[in-house]
Amino acid sequence: MREISPVSPLRRRHAPVAALAAAALVVSFFPASPAAADSLVGDPEYGAFLAGECVTCHQESGDFDGIPPIVGWPVESFVLVMRQYQDGTRENPVMRTIAGRYSDEELAALAAYFATLGPGAIENTR
Ligand code: HEC
Repeated sequence: MREISPVSPLRRRHAPVAALAAAALVVSFFPASPAAADSLVGDPEYGAFLAGECVTCHQESGDFDGIPPIVGWPVESFVLVMRQYQDGTRENPVMRTIAGRYSDEELAALAAYFATLGPGAIENTR
């Protein structure tokens, strides 16, 4: 007959770890879902750091020089457009490659940073 032991100390120690792991899974799943992404709040300072690549083509001043300006946009529109490059709804190959490198968190940070620039800035940061 199998011995029936009371819950071992080992088991008791490990159960909360399993629960935490499950919670972490749930948390990491959500930013990937479109519904949750709209509520993502980006860090504009991180965005400024990431923007180094973007401003080799897009003017930080918001001027149009053949490449469309991306400053002063509402955060949601910015993230939406970047997602459209990621999923191919927008087909520009250059922007598709670039957008594909960024996570939701990074896109939110970029959106937060560019929203602080240009004519729409005051409205967007209110
Ligand atoms: C190599 C040059 C280049 C770089 C670098 C670049 N872009 Fe672009 N971007 C473009 C071009 C060209 C377009 C216009 C593409 C099109 O017609 O869809 C564009 C379009 C966009 C648009 C849509 C603008 C509109 O009016 O529809 C956004 C938003 C954007 N880029 C964001 C970014 C961000 C954020 C970065 C940095 C992570 C970045 N771009 C880096 C060249 C670049």
